[in-house]
Amino acid sequence: MSEIRASGSTSATTSVSAPVALVTGGARGIGLAIGRWFLARGYRVALLDIDEATLTRAVAEIGEAGGSDRSGRSGRLLAVHADVSDPAQVEAAVAQVDAAFGRIDALVNNAGVAVFKAIGETSFAEWRHVMATNLDGIFLCTQAVVPLMQRGGCGGAVVNIASISGLRASTMRVAYGTSKAAVIHLTRQQAVELGNAGIRVNAVAPGPVDTEMARLVHSAAIRRDYHDAIPLNRYGTPEEIAEVVGFLCSEAAAYVNGQVIAADGGFDAAGIGLPTLRGAATGAATGTTGA
Ligand SMILES: NC(=O)c1ccc[n+]([C@@H]2O[C@H](COP(=O)([O-])OP(=O)(O)OC[C@H]3O[C@@H](n4cnc5c(N)ncnc54)[C@H](O)[C@@H]3O)[C@@H](O)[C@H]2O)c1
Repeated sequence: MSEIRASGSTSATTSVSAPVALVTGGARGIGLAIGRWFLARGYRVALLDIDEATLTRAVAEIGEAGGSDRSGRSGRLLAVHADVSDPAQVEAAVAQVDAAFGRIDALVNNAGVAVFKAIGETSFAEWRHVMATNLDGIFLCTQAVVPLMQRGGCGGAVVNIASISGLRASTMRVAYGTSKAAVIHLTRQQAVELGNAGIRVNAVAPGPVDTEMARLVHSAAIRRDYHDAIPLNRYGTPEEIAEVVGFLCSEAAAYVNGQVIAADGGFDAAGIGLPTLRGAATGAATGTTGA
């Protein structure tokens, strides 16, 4: 197997034949877990993020965990500092990945921001910020990566991270929920058109997951409500979302295209539900009620 010394911020030798995954919003949370998933399975990984300090820390930590060089970087890992909502930065970022690794097999459009405010309190600037990151970012990154996927002749896989808020409306999510609903439709548009080029596009819609984003916008009361409404009675973990994303990028999902998988502990399946009936069902299941 031939070896190259990758350019950019990578430093050790790595195999040119190993597949490459680009994960946006990869500095922390769900994106970082997805990056780790790919690394653990032999992929070369580019983590892209707007937050350079957190990105640098994440790459250093992974490098230490992998026992790579003293700068904390491994030849299979590339840090890309860019804003997914800026067309010029996205072009430059994809060119950086191309120069370092020479191909992209999987793109995970994970970068996202949340503003949880009522309709009357959401400023136009906040609305635009959410749309620019969550929706424009996916449009731009996919558009920039597709030529690389086509160039290799083997196609590729794109996974867009939507949200349960894109499947169900709720209060305080006029911008966030609308952006994620649009991501779901964008996924289908991309799947239908890019399927012809052998590029599969699917979406994962996580329920609440314990990350910085969730900690920022979920109060203690909201956390209690989520526990009550989710059949599995808990938040998900970034690693559980990464498993679903990884499956969709793998050969095991070779005939899956244009789908949305809710990884949400049953939240979407349950609908709103009635607290009293939920309580009765739980009691019956555990034998504590005869009702
Ligand atoms: N945490 C949850 O409960 C939850 C639920 C459903 C969906 N999601 C979605 O999962 C994805 C990841 O969320 P998370 O919880 O890990 O959030 P997070 O805030 O911990 O991580 C998001 C990452 O995206 C980066 N980012 C933000 N704007 C960017 C931009 N313009 N360009 C490049 N990078 C940018 C951030 O710097 C950060 O590192 C998001 O799309 C989010 O909407 C999260």
